[in-house]
Amino acid sequence: MPPRLTVIGKHSELTAGDVRRLVHLVVGDQSRGDSRAGATVDVRVLQGGYSGLLVALVYAPRSGLFILKGGPTGEIRLEHENRAAFLGSADEWLVNNQLDDIYGPVDVEIRDQSESWSAMAYRYIGSRTYRELADYSEFGGFLQSFVRTPPAEGTPPERTVRACLYKVASLLVRNADLQNEEEGRALVDYLPDVDWERDINASLTTAAALWSDIEDLRDFRAWYTEAAAAVRVAPVADRRLIHGDAHLANILVNSVRAEVDLIDFGKGRQAHVFEDLARFEVDLVLHTTPRHAHSGTLVQDELLETVNLVGDDDFALRDSPDEPRHRHCLRMWRQELCAVLRGTSLPGAAMMYRWFLLSECLKRIRWVTTNGPVAAGVDMLSLLRMITALRRMLDGHRYAPETVISTTAEALTLLRCTAAYVPMHGHELLTNEKRNRVKETALRASAARGASVRITAETGYSYLSTRGVFNSRIVRLLGAGASLQMVICNPYFLEAYGISASYDPDGRRLGAVVPDRLELHADLARKFEASLRGYEILREEYKSLVEVRFARFGIGATVLLTEKAFFFEPYFHASRNRRERVLFDTFELQFEPGGLHMKRLLEETFSFHWNNADAITDVSQLEERCRRARTTVFDAWQETGSS
Ligand SMILES: Nc1ncnc2c1ncn2[C@@H]1O[C@H](COP(=O)(O)OP(=O)(O)O)[C@@H](O)[C@H]1O
Ligand SMILES: [Mg+2]
Repeated sequence: MPPRLTVIGKHSELTAGDVRRLVHLVVGDQSRGDSRAGATVDVRVLQGGYSGLLVALVYAPRSGLFILKGGPTGEIRLEHENRAAFLGSADEWLVNNQLDDIYGPVDVEIRDQSESWSAMAYRYIGSRTYRELADYSEFGGFLQSFVRTPPAEGTPPERTVRACLYKVASLLVRNADLQNEEEGRALVDYLPDVDWERDINASLTTAAALWSDIEDLRDFRAWYTEAAAAVRVAPVADRRLIHGDAHLANILVNSVRAEVDLIDFGKGRQAHVFEDLARFEVDLVLHTTPRHAHSGTLVQDELLETVNLVGDDDFALRDSPDEPRHRHCLRMWRQELCAVLRGTSLPGAAMMYRWFLLSECLKRIRWVTTNGPVAAGVDMLSLLRMITALRRMLDGHRYAPETVISTTAEALTLLRCTAAYVPMHGHELLTNEKRNRVKETALRASAARGASVRITAETGYSYLSTRGVFNSRIVRLLGAGASLQMVICNPYFLEAYGISASYDPDGRRLGAVVPDRLELHADLARKFEASLRGYEILREEYKSLVEVRFARFGIGATVLLTEKAFFFEPYFHASRNRRERVLFDTFELQFEPGGLHMKRLLEETFSFHWNNADAITDVSQLEERCRRARTTVFDAWQETGSS
C-alpha cells in the first residue's frame, strides 16, 4: 500500500493530483517493502527558480528529508546525467537511500496539454533542526551577511568566507587547467551566444535613446560583433562540462561548517569554464555592492569602482588595504580562484574573461525585462552601467568617475530630496494637508529645540496672519525663544503687481500688467494686509525675535529653512484664480539639511533676499516712495506700448 501523502503549497502549473503522482513515483518506489500502515509522507512545494520545474521538500519515513525535482522527462534525464558527470560520482546518501534513479515518466497536464514528466531526488542541504536554521543559506544571503555593516550577530568571519569561496572555485573548476590556445580558435567560438533578437537589442536601443548621455550604448550590437570578431585567436582555450547556471541561488552553504554544495545541474553543457565563473562573479558583485536604502538600487559609484576592479589586468587581484568589505570579497574570490585554476596568468586571459563578464551582463538584460529588477537582482540602469563600463575597458579605457551621469532617482538622492508633494488632479486638498502637516512637524521640532527659522514667501500670509495655517506654530516657536527671520514680497512695488496680474481679473489679460488699473487684485491686497497686521501683533509680543523684511528683488520660491528640514516651492505665473480654488497647484520639495548642495543653494538664496530688503518700520513712508517709483515705471511701459 503506498504511503499517505500530505502536500503543502502549490505548483503554479501542475495540478495537486499531478504533484502527488510525481511524488508517488519516487516514494512509492522507495518504500517498497516498507509500507507500514499509517506512514505519512509530507511534501512541501518550494518556490523554484525560473525553470518552472517542480521542486519540493519531501519527508519520507524511511529516508527522512530529501528534495524532489520533477520536470519534462528529457530535462530531468539531462539534469540527472549532468549531475553525475559533473560531480564525478553518485551521491552516496542518495544511493544508500535508493533515491539515485530517475523516476517516471508519467503524463501530467500542463496548460491543457499532456506532457511526459519524470522526477529525480537531491540530497537535502538545509537545517534539520530549529537550532541549525541560521547555519544554512543560499550563497547570496551568505555573502550579504558578510558585507553587512556594521557586522551583526551571524556575520560569518572572513576566514569562513574565504574557505567557502575556495570551495566554490574548486567545485566549478574541478582540477582542469586552462590551456594555451594552440589550434587557433577565435574568441567568438568560445563566447556564449548573445540572443540579440529577443529583447536584448531592443532594450539596448531603447536605453540608448532614453539615456542619450551614455554614449557607449549607441550601436552596441555592431560594436560587440565587430570587436569580438577582431580577437582572432582566443588567448586561453577550455572545453568541459560546465554547471551552466552557477548563480548564487544554486549554491547552498553551511556557514558554520564552511560546506558548499552545488545544485540544479539542468543547464549543464560543454563550454568554456569562464562562463560559469563569470555568472558567479557577476552575481557576487550584484549581491555585495551597497544599495540605496529606500529604492534598493545599487550605489552607482560603488558599482563602477568594483567593475573597474574586475577589469584589472592582474587576474588575482592582490589585497589592497582599507577596502570596503564588498570589494574585499571580490578580491578574495579571485585569489581563491587563481589558487585552483591554472592558466589565469596567461597573456590575454584577463581580457578574455572580461568578454565573458560582458556577455553574462548582456544576458541579464532579458532577466530584468522579463522578471523585473527585484527578481533579477539588478535594476536596468545599473546593469547598463556595468555593460558600458566593460565595453570601455575592452576598448582599452578605464571607467572615469566624471562620466557618471545622474538619473532622476540618483539626482534626488544626491540632493537629499526626501519628499516631493505633487497634487494629483482632484486630490489637491489631501496633498496640501500632507505637506502642511510635515511643515508643522518641522516647526514644532524647531520650537522644541529653540532653533531659529528662516522663510522667504510671497505674502507670508500662512505664517504671519492670525488666520494663517502655521500662525499658531510660529507663535509657539517665538514663545519658546526661537527667532524667525522672514523676507516677503514688497506689496507696494513691481513684483506685487506681477503677482496681481496672474490673478487674471478679466479673463483676457492673464500675465499682463494692466496699466490702466494700478490697483492690486483685492484677494492679494487682503492677504498682504492680514500679514502685516499679524506681523505687528507678533512684533509687539516678541520684539526683536521676529523680523520681517520686504524683498527688493523678486522672490522665486517659498523657502522654509528649519533645523530638521528644508522646503522649496517654486512660484509660477500660472493662473492664481485656479490656485485660490484648489489651494495647491504647484509642487513642493523637501530636503534633508545634511545634503550640502541644496543647503548651500537655499541658504545663500535666503541671505541674498535678507540682505537686499527693506525694513518694515515706517510703512507709510515706504509706500509713498514706492508709489512714486512705480508710477514712473508704469508710465515708461505705457510709452513703449504694452503688448
Ligand atoms: N538539495 C537542496 N537542498 C536544499 N534546498 C534546495 C535543494 N535543491 C533545491 N533547493 C531549493 O529550491 C530552489 C529551487 O531549486 P533548483 O534546483 O535551483 O530549481 P530551479 O531549476 O527551478 O532553479 C533552490 O534555489 C533552493 O532554494
Ligand atoms: Mg535554481
